[in-house]
Amino acid sequence: SRRDFTIAIDGPAASGKSSTARAVAQELGFGYIDSGSIYRCATLLALRQNITDMGEGSASLADLISHAKVDIKVRPSTSHQTPSLGRLAVPEVQVLLDGEDVSREIRTPEVNRLVAKIASDSGIRQAVLHIQRKLAADAESRSTTSRSADANDMPGGVVMDGRDIGTTIFPGAELKIYLDASAMARAIRRWDEMNQMKDVTAQKPAHDPKASVAPAAVYPSVEEIARELETRDYADINRENSPLRIAPDAVVIDNTNLTFAQQVYTITDLARERMGLEPKHSDC
Ligand code: CDP
Ligand code: CDP
Ligand code: CDP
Repeated sequence: SRRDFTIAIDGPAASGKSSTARAVAQELGFGYIDSGSIYRCATLLALRQNITDMGEGSASLADLISHAKVDIKVRPSTSHQTPSLGRLAVPEVQVLLDGEDVSREIRTPEVNRLVAKIASDSGIRQAVLHIQRKLAADAESRSTTSRSADANDMPGGVVMDGRDIGTTIFPGAELKIYLDASAMARAIRRWDEMNQMKDVTAQKPAHDPKASVAPAAVYPSVEEIARELETRDYADINRENSPLRIAPDAVVIDNTNLTFAQQVYTITDLARERMGLEPKHSDC
């Protein structure tokens, strides 16, 4: 008999939740929901509407986000993103806000600075909760119906990452993971990602000599990234409404010294075991 299987992945900023969750979802044929991107969409709406005071603006922003259409599109990938990913494929995710592709705009420093404040508001969290559950139900049913006949024993499922998925959104999740890594490891990983993006941008002027390249100084240093992550983690841990906590039944994985493949296969094996299937990668 088949039933749905939910994997909750929580942890501090840049601990690897999103890339791990995407790879786990692809390995298991599950759907994937990035809950942080919904808070980031709400933050983008706040910036666009100039609503930054959560005392006065909370109700109207909650209304805006609950009437907006947030879509998270996962594009299966066959190639790895970075050398550190080994043979694992990490699908790309596109975030659509009322049909507009905001995937890049929701990762700007402006959004990074404001998102934790927006996410601390209970009205906003309530509105986002409904979006999360709806997206999860959609993803779960897609994952079940897209299954091939020989995979009939595999349940459909969904992987969702965020801060409060195992504690508040899906307290009954079949598998809860709390991902962590040292503050410096996390800052260095974000800095690496930024430099990869910088390399891509720097190649553009070759085609258009007049196009300007942003001076190196606008890119934050590792220390600045570390401070930004720390500020956001502090806000997420110390807020009143569903703060970042380790669920009592979560499996804690500190990946400071793990390879990406090791952490992904640890999670897919745990999931397979709990679904009553043989583990695949117990040797890695
Ligand atoms: O990718 P990164 O870890 O930097 O952040 P994210 O997962 O995109 O989340 C951005 C922000 O949204 C977090 O710092 C939290 O303030 C908020 N968030 C939350 O409160 N609850 C969640 N389930 C997910 C994100
Ligand atoms: O979603 P979250 O902010 O927690 O993290 P992310 O956006 O997945 O970014 C984590 C980065 O660390 C990605 O570039 C991963 O490839 C990298 N990484 C990892 O997640 N785990 C390791 N063991 C090593 C590197
Ligand atoms: O670094 P390398 O490409 O050699 O391997 P990896 O992708 O980092 O995988 C690390 C571990 O995962 C190895 O023990 C592999 O046997 C295992 N693995 C697997 O069992 N199935 C795959 N499709 C990929 C890796």
